[in-house]
Amino acid sequence: MSESKKVLLAVSGGIAAYKSAFLARELMRAGVEVRVLMTHGARAFVQPLTFQALTGFEVHTDLLDETAEAGMGHIELARWADLILVAPASANTIARIAQGSAEHLLGTVILATSAPVLLAPAMNKHMWANPAVQRNCAQITELGHELIEPDAGLQACGDVGAGRMPEPEVLSEIVISRLSSLHRAHPLEGKRVLITAGPTVEAIDPVRYLSNHSTGMMGYALARACRDAGADVTLVSGPVALNVPVGVKCTQVQSARDMLEACLKACTDQPFDLMIATAAVADYRTREAVPQKIKKSQDEMLLDLVKNPDVLATLAEQFPLTFHVGFAAETQRVEEYAKGKLGDKKLGAIVCNDVSRSDIGFGAVDNAVTLYFAGGESLELVKAPKDQIAKQLIFAIAPHLS
Ligand SMILES: Cc1cc2nc3c(=O)[nH]c(=O)nc-3n(C[C@H](O)[C@H](O)[C@H](O)COP(=O)(O)O)c2cc1C
Repeated sequence: MSESKKVLLAVSGGIAAYKSAFLARELMRAGVEVRVLMTHGARAFVQPLTFQALTGFEVHTDLLDETAEAGMGHIELARWADLILVAPASANTIARIAQGSAEHLLGTVILATSAPVLLAPAMNKHMWANPAVQRNCAQITELGHELIEPDAGLQACGDVGAGRMPEPEVLSEIVISRLSSLHRAHPLEGKRVLITAGPTVEAIDPVRYLSNHSTGMMGYALARACRDAGADVTLVSGPVALNVPVGVKCTQVQSARDMLEACLKACTDQPFDLMIATAAVADYRTREAVPQKIKKSQDEMLLDLVKNPDVLATLAEQFPLTFHVGFAAETQRVEEYAKGKLGDKKLGAIVCNDVSRSDIGFGAVDNAVTLYFAGGESLELVKAPKDQIAKQLIFAIAPHLS
């Protein structure tokens, strides 16, 4: 988390207001200090007590309230925030902000703040498409505020279309990325980074496959860390149950050969400055994927396996000017195998982790790794959440890029 971490979450009156309780929790989990402001409309949907209990702070609701002004008044609130997020932003609230209205607390705080203001509109698809709402949104953008495009899909009212508030995790990520860009040093500013993540899936027949336990969490955490460090990030990912980090280009692949092809394609226009290979690429695939489902007839089934291409070694050989970082997920003689890979594949560095430990292995929230550089330097990172490990790795690797 950057030094700027104070977010005023302004909740206005829409059905998506309940999602903002999850959003508050998500932001706090990421280390953000959250204070909540609710419009009169919002209080018809969710009680201030919910947010007070979640954040541990009184919720700001009224402008012309002596007690509230004696505490953290509207100007102080406007000064306190490093960022203001209006989520959900109702059509009515959008109209008020577009007009510069100071009739209520939210509008007044927005007029008084110098912090960036982000709005997540959420409403019925016809309301969202209404020219009056769109005109107000255009005005909001002209005022220098940022609108977060609503999602499309099934709405609370039963309609299907654009107008849904993005999920709390997505909004939280957008906020964190904006906070990071406020003050943080950007050690990867202007750099292009390629990251592979997740498992690969090698078809046996149309219903069966060979794969592994990789969840992609470390790779996705690195993609976010590189993005927040100022890099232009491309992610090539095997099948995982994770949201693509906002602002990251992603190609989804299945097999090891698909992954290699996607990486080579990404490198064609312009080689990358840094490539981090976290993907658990299957070493073997079946010689031929059978087009029809193999029927259960015999007691035994033998699979004829052939070796897959080595994605990282191939890229390291073809693009020697890129700084390549490998991941060695080992269960025994971890350091020895990791250092072996570092030399064999001609990498710039290797991150070595012991996946035999259930507290830091596949699917775990935490990790603990040792980073070995080809020059002999090493860095041990003690157990911490993967997002934190990712940031530490990036800060350690960045000075090694030419
Ligand atoms: C059940 C119900 C659901 C509503 N959902 C939304 C919504 O999703 N988005 C929206 O812009 N307005 C919605 N409205 C209308 C707003 O609540 C209304 O315009 C209110 O005045 C907004 O106040 P505020 O902007 O001060 O919070 C809804 C109203 C009702 C009764």
